[in-house]
Amino acid sequence: SSLLVLNGPNLSRLGRREPEVYGTMTLDDINEGLMGRYVDVNFEFFQSEYEGGVIEKLYDCEDRGGFIGAVLNAGALTHYSIALRDAISAVQLPVVEVHLSNVHAREGFRQTSVLAPVCAGVISGFGADSYRLGVEALLQRLQA
Ligand code: DQA
Repeated sequence: SSLLVLNGPNLSRLGRREPEVYGTMTLDDINEGLMGRYVDVNFEFFQSEYEGGVIEKLYDCEDRGGFIGAVLNAGALTHYSIALRDAISAVQLPVVEVHLSNVHAREGFRQTSVLAPVCAGVISGFGADSYRLGVEALLQRLQA
């Protein structure tokens, strides 16, 4: 079974970008950590700086089939992209929203997610481990 790990704008800069907020691991470090830990999972990793790129990837995986779900860090799109929300609603794939930082402990504009209501659940505040917890949630969901 395949599992999509999807990242939106600015997550390409992890490791260099505000390390005091987002840590020093790069996105490649995080992705490699997942592959090393879940050797039986067929991961697909994708990142885009573009809203449309993130949306297209969801449709691509839905159309190809065989995906158990997606772990999504949509970055700032989380807080305003109705287009991405509609795409999540449009697909059958369960999507787990994840954030490295605890968005609820930050600026007010980060405390609203327009995606959360149409996601399977949300994980926020555990750094790189948020992605692992997201994967874990999807695998558990599959078993249930
Ligand atoms: C983030 C939190 C968002 O508010 C921010 O825009 C990001 C990263 C996180 O992982 O903590 O780009 O999604």
